[in-house]
Amino acid sequence: MYENDSAAEIYDVLYQDRKDYDAEAARVAALVRERKPDASTLLDVACGTGVHLAAFAKRFDTVAGLELSESMAARAAERLSGVPLHRGDMRTFDLGQTYDAVVIMFSSIGYLDTAAELNSAVSAMSRHLADDGVLVVEPWYFPDSFLDGHVSTHAVKNGDQGIARVSHSTREGDKTRMEIHYLVADSTTGIKHRSEVDHLTLFSREEYTEAFRLGGLNVTYLESQAGPGFFVGTRK
Ligand SMILES: C[S@@+](CC[C@H](N)C(=O)[O-])C[C@H]1O[C@@H](n2cnc3c(N)ncnc32)[C@H](O)[C@@H]1O
Repeated sequence: MYENDSAAEIYDVLYQDRKDYDAEAARVAALVRERKPDASTLLDVACGTGVHLAAFAKRFDTVAGLELSESMAARAAERLSGVPLHRGDMRTFDLGQTYDAVVIMFSSIGYLDTAAELNSAVSAMSRHLADDGVLVVEPWYFPDSFLDGHVSTHAVKNGDQGIARVSHSTREGDKTRMEIHYLVADSTTGIKHRSEVDHLTLFSREEYTEAFRLGGLNVTYLESQAGPGFFVGTRK
C-alpha cells in the first residue's frame, strides 16, 4: 500500500479529483471549534500526501502531520513547506507535545487489524490532546453498513497521463477485502498496470466507543450523508 512514489502520485491525482478535501477540512474545523472555539493547533494523523493538511493550515495557526509511509510523507513534504511531518505509526507514536485538535481522516484508522490496535491508536492520539482538546476520527464502515460486492470506477486525465481505477470490495469476516486495479497511460512510456489488495477492518460502533473510553475520552458519533460520519471525543 502506497509503497512507492508512483503509488503516492496516483493516489494524489485520483483523490484530489474525487474528494472535496477543502470542504471536508472545513467541516472538521467546525466540529473542533464548536467544542473549542480558540483551537489553534492541529495534528493530522495518517496525513497521506498532505492535502487535508494544506486545507487545515488555512484554518489553524499551527499544523503538523504524522504518516507511516515514506513515499506518502515525501509527497506531503513537497506540498507543505515549513509544516512538521513526522514519520510514525498511529499505534505507538509519541511526539512529546499536545495539540488542540487531533484528527484522522479518510478512514485511515480502518487499516488497523484488531480492536487492541484500535485501542492503542486512539489512546496514542488522546495522549497528544491538550486538556480541552478535541479528537476527530473519520471511521471506516461498520459491519452493518458495508455493502458486500461494492464496485467503484474512476478515471482522470492528468497532463500527459490518463489514470483509471476500478475496485471490488468483499467482506471477509470482520474485514473488507478491497482489490484495486490501476491502468496508467503515459504519453511517453505507454500503458502500465498495477494492482493492490487492501484489508480494512469493519470495527463496530461499540469498538470505537470503547477505544475512546479507554483513552479517557467522552465520545459522540455524528452521522453524515456524504461519508462514514465522525467520532468526536473530548476529555472526560
Ligand atoms: C486512505 S489513506 C488517507 C490519507 C490522508 N489522510 C487523506 O485523507 O488523503 C490512508 C493513510 O494511512 C496511512 N497509514 C496506514 N497505517 C498507518 C499507521 N499504522 N500509522 C500511520 N499511518 C498509517 C497510509 O500510509 C495512508 O497514507
